[in-house]
Amino acid sequence: MTDIHSLRDDFPILDKSLNGQPLCYLDSAATAQKPNKVIDVIKTFYQAENSNVHRGLHTLSKNATNRYEAARETIAKFLNVSAKEIVWTSGATESLNFLAHGLSQALNENSKIAISPFEHHANIVPWQEACKRTGAQLLVLPMLENGVLDEAGAISLLQTHKPDILSIGHVSNALGNIHPIESLIKACKTLGTKTVIDGAQSFMHLRPDLVALDCDFYVFSAHKALGPTGVGGLYGRYNLLNTLPVYKTGGEMIQEVTFAHSTYRDAPGKFEPGTPNISGVIGLAAAVDYLNNISPSALQRYERALYQSLLQQLNQIKGVTVYGDTQNNVGIVSFNYKNEHHYDLATLLNTYGVAVRSGHHCAQPLMNMLNVNGTVRASLAFYNNEADVEHFINALKATIELLD
Ligand SMILES: Cc1ncc(COP(=O)(O)O)c(C=O)c1O
Repeated sequence: MTDIHSLRDDFPILDKSLNGQPLCYLDSAATAQKPNKVIDVIKTFYQAENSNVHRGLHTLSKNATNRYEAARETIAKFLNVSAKEIVWTSGATESLNFLAHGLSQALNENSKIAISPFEHHANIVPWQEACKRTGAQLLVLPMLENGVLDEAGAISLLQTHKPDILSIGHVSNALGNIHPIESLIKACKTLGTKTVIDGAQSFMHLRPDLVALDCDFYVFSAHKALGPTGVGGLYGRYNLLNTLPVYKTGGEMIQEVTFAHSTYRDAPGKFEPGTPNISGVIGLAAAVDYLNNISPSALQRYERALYQSLLQQLNQIKGVTVYGDTQNNVGIVSFNYKNEHHYDLATLLNTYGVAVRSGHHCAQPLMNMLNVNGTVRASLAFYNNEADVEHFINALKATIELLD
């Protein structure tokens, strides 16, 4: 297994500068950087291998089809599920829309859908629309005052209301909290509640074993896990997945088409009409191959140590408020400084070469519950190091001096 410290060299962008300063990239929760291996695989595909899949009899097409389906096996193995349970989509957002559309077919005005207060808008709005269509009620699990999910309260709410669906993020993109989804899924099992896990922020950091988790659905985006943008997918327990109605229709997802009616393939084929994002899928497989060379426990230890170092130095700056669960966290610090606007902080940090995100992080309801209109978010990955932490802290101190 690879030494984590040496991996940074695989990411060419990390050598670049930003506004005349060395780049300090602390925005991996928005999108992760890409290693050479992923960049090269995509470039080679277009230079030497480009062809459509599932269509041609010629060698290029057969090879592309084999690579495309092998990628499904790679991702399935990574998540410890079967390849026929993986559907390609354009990312977590499309996966959640697909599930909200499909699962809501069985709902009515007596139905309930539960989400958590920490959800990304992509895991709120599709369910709100499902509620509008069906008359179902949207429930929100409780939060403790310190920006942590109230686990006991959440289980009690689930037991009282017995929702049809629980859709919850494994990790909060706004705060980095790792949610106790194991206990929630277990509770849902006894209640007959279907479980949808938004894995956009956990796929790379936590590498969940979906058989052990025992969830019904899990969604992900390639770009949050070293892969390209515009591609991702979902896992669905096969007997549930295959009964979902088709979402988009067109070529390749059919068995037979007449002017009178059409019949569809089994999952996953029936959910993948049209020409897919072939290079994206192959790029994601390359990203997962890359992650497979890193020990998951070593990666998590490394990221945790870096997070603790960042948190400790940040907490020493008077006037800084950090939000969320700092015990169970993938390496995201979400903070404000006194009453300064998060936008001003991020703008000034940018002049020091520091790339962080500021704003509501597509989690406006959570920001309202925390009584803020936004935060500055610094998010780490295994390719960051202590020098990045030092760079960030020095830049923040200089920023604060300018503002105070
Ligand atoms: C937790 C979470 N869910 C869903 C999404 C949506 O992902 P995408 O924009 O790749 O579809 C994101 C992206 O930030 C996210 O962090």
